[in-house]
Amino acid sequence: MICIDIYHSIHLTCINCGEVFPPNAVLYTCPRCGSLLEVRYELRVGVSWSIFRSRPFTMWRYRELIPVDTRYVVSLGEGGTPLYRAEKLARWVGVKRLYLKFEGANPTGSFKDRGVCVGIAKALECGARVVACASTGNTAASVAAYSARAGVKCVLFLPEGKVAPGKLFQALLHGATVIELNCNFDEALRLVLKLCGRGCMYLLNSVNPWRLEGQKSIAYEIADVIGVPDYVVVPVGNGGNISAIWKGFRELHDLGLVGELPRMIAAQATGAAPIVKAFRAGKVTVDPVNEPETIATAIRIGNPVNAPKALKALYESRGLAEAVSDYEILEAQVAIARYEGIGVEPASATSVAVLRKLVHEGVLEPDATYVCVLTGHALKDPSVVDYLSKWVERYRCGVGDIHYILETVLRK
Ligand SMILES: Cc1ncc(COP(=O)(O)O)c(C=O)c1O
Ligand SMILES: [Zn+2]
Repeated sequence: MICIDIYHSIHLTCINCGEVFPPNAVLYTCPRCGSLLEVRYELRVGVSWSIFRSRPFTMWRYRELIPVDTRYVVSLGEGGTPLYRAEKLARWVGVKRLYLKFEGANPTGSFKDRGVCVGIAKALECGARVVACASTGNTAASVAAYSARAGVKCVLFLPEGKVAPGKLFQALLHGATVIELNCNFDEALRLVLKLCGRGCMYLLNSVNPWRLEGQKSIAYEIADVIGVPDYVVVPVGNGGNISAIWKGFRELHDLGLVGELPRMIAAQATGAAPIVKAFRAGKVTVDPVNEPETIATAIRIGNPVNAPKALKALYESRGLAEAVSDYEILEAQVAIARYEGIGVEPASATSVAVLRKLVHEGVLEPDATYVCVLTGHALKDPSVVDYLSKWVERYRCGVGDIHYILETVLRK
């Protein structure tokens, strides 16, 4: 058990004006300039890979680097997800060394558990009795599960008819109050930000900087298992996760635990690609996409709240941003499942689809080490099977026809 006395200092810093706030201030944006906040800390104790590796492989192996009071942590065993070497998929993509960080193996089936676990700890520390979020689905599922375990009330704001069935089921199963709004995710987030700003509920969207303190552990785990890859490809919606992973690598570098840094690649769907457009234009903020549309509902986001942090991660790491069509996303989802036996939801497959596109276009070299982050489990969204007819072998027949069908199947 580790408390906060292992730190010289922990504070929230505005990424724009540099104003500093105490760590237990319930703030989601800078009260002075309205920009995003970041958690900064200075350790009083030394850390090393051998200390980390003497502990079980969960994200709490790196607990000194996650500056939250662990007395408030309610865990479901988040993190410690597999990093698979994917040789057959690497051939399909066109690269020599490809690894897949399978975040679908988290307790509720997505990377959100890492951040929500830390966010809930902070909510408990601040004495919050109700937590809330707007969600395209995975945050809702995660917040519902962790708040159930922590014994706090949970209110979820979801865009009606736009959340994958598995995620909605999880939210309802864990007993959250689900409010379905006749608007898109971006509008739902704006609403919940306003409501939480009044202080009646604790906000658990990734604009809350504590969420990112949990999610940066993806970087720690990658570096722990294979060292620093040349590139890390991340599906991007609100831009929280890619900035968290970049923060994780930078912290390891600052602590002298790694010698290099990876280049970050943002993967989006063409119908919802404001970060890609801003990056191409060399801008530090985005022009919102008003009607974002993609089969990858988790990243159907037009006005990403963490855009300044995500773009900073891309520029600082000399990274790239690219978008792919829904067809390319589904094709990659099927390839990941067929070549490697890993089932992911469409948003997650965006990382592999983008990598393949950039390699085929000659933008990225085949002879580098790539990690694609696979953000969520296939069972989150079984409804996409309706779009997979081109790839699915499925027969409906009477028992009497079985010999005929089998003959056809086995001759193939
Ligand atoms: C499966 C999945 N992938 C990617 C993302 C995008 O993450 P971020 O919003 O942090 O960019 C989300 C966010 O909802 C998600 O659920
Ligand atoms: Zn500020």
